Amino acid sequence: MEKKIIYFDNAATSYPKPEEVIQAMVRFLREVGANPGRSGHRLSIEAGRVIYETREKVAQLFGVGDSSRVIFGLNATEAINLGLKGILCPGDHVITSSMEHNSVMRPLRALEKEGLALTVTPCSPEGFLDPNHVRQAIRRTTKMVVLNHGSNVTGTLQPLEEIGKICRQHELLFFVDAAQTAGAIPIDLGRQKIDLIAFTGHKALWGPTGTGGLIIGERVEEKKIVPLKRGGTGSRSESEEQPDFLPDLGESGTANGVGLAGLLAGLDFILKIGAEKIRNHEIRLTQCLLTGLQGIPGIIVYGPKDAQKQCATISFNIKGWAPSEISLRLEEEFGIFCRVGLHCAPAAHKTIGTFPQGTVRFGLSYFNHEEEVDQALQAVQYLARKGV
Ligand code: ALA
Repeated sequence: MEKKIIYFDNAATSYPKPEEVIQAMVRFLREVGANPGRSGHRLSIEAGRVIYETREKVAQLFGVGDSSRVIFGLNATEAINLGLKGILCPGDHVITSSMEHNSVMRPLRALEKEGLALTVTPCSPEGFLDPNHVRQAIRRTTKMVVLNHGSNVTGTLQPLEEIGKICRQHELLFFVDAAQTAGAIPIDLGRQKIDLIAFTGHKALWGPTGTGGLIIGERVEEKKIVPLKRGGTGSRSESEEQPDFLPDLGESGTANGVGLAGLLAGLDFILKIGAEKIRNHEIRLTQCLLTGLQGIPGIIVYGPKDAQKQCATISFNIKGWAPSEISLRLEEEFGIFCRVGLHCAPAAHKTIGTFPQGTVRFGLSYFNHEEEVDQALQAVQYLARKGV
């Protein structure tokens, strides 16, 4: 019999997916199959309808009135690149934090070489950004504040509402990287005064990889956005110029119909279970894991260490061990799957003091349960006791 695994790598991508997601993708491939928005036949129209419905549900989830302001793409990274490169110009000043993933840092560093001015505000060792630091960093040329909502290293949740308010007071654009939180923690464009949200479909929204997108609020002038790529959109086919309206402006080439069908089922899954129930389950598991890990001699836990202040992502180390050795032993001896190292976020690891060795990261999801947390705690305790 195949050995049962404990999948704690949901911060990288969620697994398993709800059965409904798999079924929706199979149904799309079997019964719809066609290219959305290109042809006038029934199957093409059905494919377009699936994508329209997904767009509407994403808009609903994030409190967006006009669903045409949801642009679908491959993942959060692509969305972040569009939101940064498509809006910022040389001479603009941008504020970000020291907890960002390279999906934010790398495009910003590249733009810096082209004349963008960048301030990386330092966060606390738990990963929190002090809104006062954002206020102090604002200059006459500041155009945007870009931040992740939840850290992919420590799970630390940033105070979006406070920072959103500061951005409005100073007429700045507020761009939130919600890769780790979309679907897991409520986000509301209007209430939190956000202007751009990058999300991925394949984590807490339960969709497949290859889905994600950018939400563009109404304070961003659509006609000024420069697309990352240009091409066929199924609209204005008489013109050799890219359409200047949303979402077509940012969606060239055949859409990922099968992926978006899966994402739609993922969104429906959240509605069926209830976002609050999902969050409460994850808080419970996160708190058990945090409390358990902190009770084991030789374990260092990073981040807020408070399940209310973080998403279901926990980083830790065992004193004297290399993170890679821990993950190898966890997988080989206990069937526990996790991610170790720097998690594509060197700045975050410098902030929490774990650069360059990194940490062991457990990323939980709604599909994990308490017995798995107990087994993981026993496994970590066993390794910590045994020593290298
Ligand atoms: N950004 C993803 C992670 O943190 C892939 O693992």
